[in-house]
Amino acid sequence: MSQLTVHSGEPLRGHVRVPGDKSISHRALLLGALADGVSQIRGFLPCDDCLATLACLRALGIEVETHDATTLTIHGRGLRGLRAPTVPLNCARSGTTMRLLAGILAGQPFASTLTGAPQLLRRPMRRIVEPLHRAGAEIEDTNGHAPLTIRGRRLRGCDHTLVIASAQVKSALLLAGLYADGPTNVRQPGPARDHTERMLAAMGTTIETADLTVTLRPFSPLSSLLSPLSLRIPGDISSAAFPLVAAALAPGSEVTIEGMGVNPTRTGLLDVLRAMGVEIALDNEREQGNEPVADVTVRASDLVGVEIGGDTVVRMIDEFPALAVAATQAHGTTIVRDAAELRVKETDRIATVVAELRTLGARIDPLPDGFIIEGPTPLHSAVVDSHGDHRLAMALTVAGLVAEGEVAIENTECIADSFPGFIELMRRVRATIFTT
Ligand code: S3P
Repeated sequence: MSQLTVHSGEPLRGHVRVPGDKSISHRALLLGALADGVSQIRGFLPCDDCLATLACLRALGIEVETHDATTLTIHGRGLRGLRAPTVPLNCARSGTTMRLLAGILAGQPFASTLTGAPQLLRRPMRRIVEPLHRAGAEIEDTNGHAPLTIRGRRLRGCDHTLVIASAQVKSALLLAGLYADGPTNVRQPGPARDHTERMLAAMGTTIETADLTVTLRPFSPLSSLLSPLSLRIPGDISSAAFPLVAAALAPGSEVTIEGMGVNPTRTGLLDVLRAMGVEIALDNEREQGNEPVADVTVRASDLVGVEIGGDTVVRMIDEFPALAVAATQAHGTTIVRDAAELRVKETDRIATVVAELRTLGARIDPLPDGFIIEGPTPLHSAVVDSHGDHRLAMALTVAGLVAEGEVAIENTECIADSFPGFIELMRRVRATIFTT
């Protein structure tokens, strides 16, 4: 069980790149496998979650060459080219792997089973099973959870109204829609990340979004081909969140993240940090692989508390552990509402963030759907635990960089679920972090 020890130190400074976007890396693998021909992917994120997707695709007969850890060639076998797996497909701790693959497997002419690590088997799966049933899929869950047994078959076009703004659910339904005999409509209550839609459009499908409703039209029998991808994946804003928040808090800091994805469905954290008074500059804005990208610079600033709710929550759903640390250093009260989804992430992030930040001296109270945080509070030396949650482990590292004295974080190997190289990157911007 690896432990990190973190100290506050000199200001954080430097220009760095974070690894490729996790959501886009999963989708590049899955859609590359379904393309007709060879896809070339650069900037792939070789984290444990995406490697779980890769292993599942190999078990489905897809050949993927890895040139170096981040450059892949995917030999797509077309929409109908997957092979029946001979073993249960292991999604490890990755919710995205399980939920998106379920959508694809629902439309295959064979049976399959999706399983994973205990942490994933505790997460809710009815949210995909029920709408996929409505589209004609045959899936059995285990009391609302995985393992999922899927007997693939021809699906029908369907009108779905989602009750949660979840990109995983939306994407599972759109991927199933590739195998449907009529249009698939997905009405979402908020702007969940749209990487699947962007990638499907680039591959030649007829897909449109109007007023948060996505419509995917079926292929005509003569044109059921997805064009292969040639993609350079942008840096992951959800990984960049940690060095950016650290730079906002540590006096005298200035950090630039080059080539970071700034898709508007993902940039809620930047809006909130700006509203808290953080100086943020976007330079060299450009398009890369159908996604907006920029070089993003954050300077240490005096922060004030804010209220966060509604669509902004959807646009920063993975950034609340980092945001909570920022709020402990802001003047006044920060209130987060409408974020009950945090309770079904890798951990119950409302409970785990509150427990661990309190151990460091933060004034933070849980709400059923968020938190209330009072600041600024000097954080102090303590031993804290990640609970096996990668984003909590990294947020606690940032907390350690602004605390007085030494902060030890236990169970940090989970950082590799999304951000291999996190410690090295933080050290490159001059953070003081020791591993034991
Ligand atoms: C993801 C969607 C989000 C996010 C997760 C990745 C995706 O989950 O929390 O880290 O790649 O589609 P939900 O769709 O469940 O909100």
